Amino acid sequence: MKATLALRVNGEDRDVVVPVHKTLLEVLREDLGLTGTKHGCELGECGTCTVLVDGTPVLSCLTLPVELQGRAITTVEGLAQCGRLHPLQEAFTELGAAQCGYCTPGILVAAKALLDRDPAPTRTDVAEWLAGNLCRCTGYLKILEAVDLAAARMRGDAAAAGARAAGRAGGPAEARR
Ligand code: FES
Ligand code: FES
Repeated sequence: MKATLALRVNGEDRDVVVPVHKTLLEVLREDLGLTGTKHGCELGECGTCTVLVDGTPVLSCLTLPVELQGRAITTVEGLAQCGRLHPLQEAFTELGAAQCGYCTPGILVAAKALLDRDPAPTRTDVAEWLAGNLCRCTGYLKILEAVDLAAARMRGDAAAAGARAAGRAGGPAEARR
């Protein structure tokens, strides 16, 4: 059975006609062309399909869009504003926190949700918040450093941001753990 759904995605109203059992992950990628959200395990275990619903991270592989009408859905495509990357995206690029990049969209949106709640999370807070987002490439340390850097910049903490950027950008492979 198909249903017509009125979804609000990245600030735009999008109508789709889809089978009611189709997951949000499938609708985003296949019906709305938003392929930034990645298709991983489909079992709720890897976090690569994470998007935000009303600012809260959800696993789109386990979510039915029929439940989300009227809610604000944000994917990685919605992070950049007015042609400018989100500070998290800039920090990930600068510090080399993405390698193959498959986990990166889910981590970026999850990290955004954290920084929207807590502008000054500790390293432990960030690690615990992102514990459901698996990465096979980076060893996680660069990811945590990039979130730290973005948080410092978003707080306007120039000294902390400068120290973090200077300490890590172009750094050696010790960033892996
Ligand atoms: S694809 Fe959704 S958690 Fe892995
Ligand atoms: S950068 Fe490759 S899985 Fe995370």
